[in-house]
Amino acid sequence: MKRIPFAVVGAGFMGKMLVKASSELPFTQFIAAADVDFEKAQKITSELGGKPYVDFQEMLSQQRPEVVIIATPEYDHLTPTLYAAELGCHVFVEKPIATTRQDALAMITACKRAGVKLMVGHILRFEIAYAQVQAAICEGSIGKFLSAYARRITTINEAKRLNGRVSPLMYIGVHDIDQILWYHPVAVESVYARPLYGEVYEKFGTYDSAWIVMEFKDGAVGVHEVGWCLPENWAKWQTPKSWGGFGDVRMNVIGSKGNINLDFTPMNLFGVGSEGWMLPDTRHWPAMHGKIAGAVKAEMEHFFECIRDDKQPLVSGEDGLKALEIVLAAERSITENKIVNMGEIKLS
Ligand SMILES: NC(=O)c1ccc[n+]([C@@H]2O[C@H](COP(=O)([O-])OP(=O)(O)OC[C@H]3O[C@@H](n4cnc5c(N)ncnc54)[C@H](O)[C@@H]3O)[C@@H](O)[C@H]2O)c1
Repeated sequence: MKRIPFAVVGAGFMGKMLVKASSELPFTQFIAAADVDFEKAQKITSELGGKPYVDFQEMLSQQRPEVVIIATPEYDHLTPTLYAAELGCHVFVEKPIATTRQDALAMITACKRAGVKLMVGHILRFEIAYAQVQAAICEGSIGKFLSAYARRITTINEAKRLNGRVSPLMYIGVHDIDQILWYHPVAVESVYARPLYGEVYEKFGTYDSAWIVMEFKDGAVGVHEVGWCLPENWAKWQTPKSWGGFGDVRMNVIGSKGNINLDFTPMNLFGVGSEGWMLPDTRHWPAMHGKIAGAVKAEMEHFFECIRDDKQPLVSGEDGLKALEIVLAAERSITENKIVNMGEIKLS
């Protein structure tokens, strides 16, 4: 069987996860990693094979992978994507697609021009329960979509690790915004957001949490509550290692003929040990028998199948751009303390 050679740019938290999940597929071959922190590139290649690099341009021009996974920080997705597309590599880029509309548009245009596929890592589309919600809405099970409320609150550890480089909305809120747009693919008219400030703001400079209200052109409403202000103890345990922690996460959708309530906080398995209560992740990217399972595995399997079978990935660059535009509108609403019309964002 032909294996699809792939490389990663950015071997940090998410890059490692994506490479592991992808390299466990039977039709892929991990060939190289580039990270400005060379030790990170070395670590992953010593574990999974392939050649380490510091410079992604050198890596791509020497190795010529068929696929490139881009998992650099949010603000640094443009240059690796443009370079990869120019060399004819298909691109999987982590969410958010970029932090500016200009970057996102340039990435979409470059991939189209080069005839390569571009998928954005909106992983919730590969979470079984979230995908089931979308299927139910699409099949009309709850009638006309009226509103969705999504909560995603993680621990302060996330804010600590990222140390002010990005806001919670841009880092994690963009997931739920993509979900709401997927559930209700109607244009958004306006966005209003209010931030809340506390310990995270004092220590790391980003707001602790925020409420975002999106009003659709047909009058439907999407509300998102996002933050990284849960205490460390929420997910502090070290063992068992496979019991990764998660946050306080839910999605409620109301329709004209019914509603759907998803409590994602993974409490179908919980325990207490010497380190206190444990509420592990059993769905998103848990380890099982030494391998990564869950949504991240399904996401990468889908992307590589699209490459193998020449199909369009479920999450396009345009989908990434739409979710980013809502984030940008909400961030502007926070800064300017006003309701932001989406027209303002599209012109900016
Ligand atoms: N899908 C998800 O659930 C999920 C979860 C976490 C992060 N993410 C996304 O993944 C991306 C990476 O986030 P992270 O948390 O892994 O960050 P990270 O800081 O852990 O990793 C980023 C890595 O990129 C490297 N890097 C920076 N600039 C580079 C460059 N020009 N060339 C090569 N390497 C470079 C850094 O040294 C670092 O190792 C972001 O877009 C983030 O929003 C997605």
